[in-house]
Amino acid sequence: MTDRIPIPRHVAIIMDGNGRWATQLGRERYEGHIAGVESVRAAVKAAVRRGVEYLTLYAFSTENWGRPAEEVSAIMELFCRSVAGEVDDLRAQGVRVKVIGGRERFSQRVAEHLDAIESRTADCDKLTLVLAFDYSSRSEIAAAVRQIASRAAAREIAAETIDESTVSAHLYTASIPDPDMIIRTGGDHRLSNFLLWQASYAELYFPKVLWPDFREEQFDEALNEYARRERRFGLVTDKK
Ligand code: FPP
Repeated sequence: MTDRIPIPRHVAIIMDGNGRWATQLGRERYEGHIAGVESVRAAVKAAVRRGVEYLTLYAFSTENWGRPAEEVSAIMELFCRSVAGEVDDLRAQGVRVKVIGGRERFSQRVAEHLDAIESRTADCDKLTLVLAFDYSSRSEIAAAVRQIASRAAAREIAAETIDESTVSAHLYTASIPDPDMIIRTGGDHRLSNFLLWQASYAELYFPKVLWPDFREEQFDEALNEYARRERRFGLVTDKK
């Protein structure tokens, strides 16, 4: 008999520590973001290799717009370059990209890159790479509530039938299963407005590694940690 360890269907990552990594090396913060792209490649490769079906990366939070303008434009530029440069490789690995978050604040160029990466990988089916870009969980939930309220006002939904599945179906992540594991690199223990509704039963893991130092080995360590967790979903276990 082979020993199979449980593999999370959906892993979500808060990629933290780019700025600290760069500062520790006496470099500019944006250089940490550049180095972080290599870690994104490693995480995608490891997820495909381990048979994870969904990998969500918190690439830019709505709050990140408040960072110095040079850092915001460096991240946007890096994102456009990475997206354009990686699309063939993503396709070769069978990776479909889906972007979640608000689209209104991006320049036309960034918006076009987001549309292009989604449409050029739409037929891939091995891994869904969800990029949370201009994402905030509270605004996602508020937008869902607005939509549900206006559908109720238009009598498309009866108010008394609104339940948890109605809310889930109106989030950006409507077609995506809830994350089984959320990893936050960089050692901080918080979710920072990321997938708050969806995280209800996720296993949380906070390794100290800074994101630019994250490689396939660290992904494997996270999956090994997941395999050691006992998930009860509020029920009791039959183990003594
Ligand atoms: C958090 O580190 C990281 C970000 C705000 C940006 C993440 C972006 C990338 C890794 C590059 C682009 C992504 C893709 C998907 C191509 P921080 O700056 O908050 O680090 P700190 O806590 O050390 O300051």
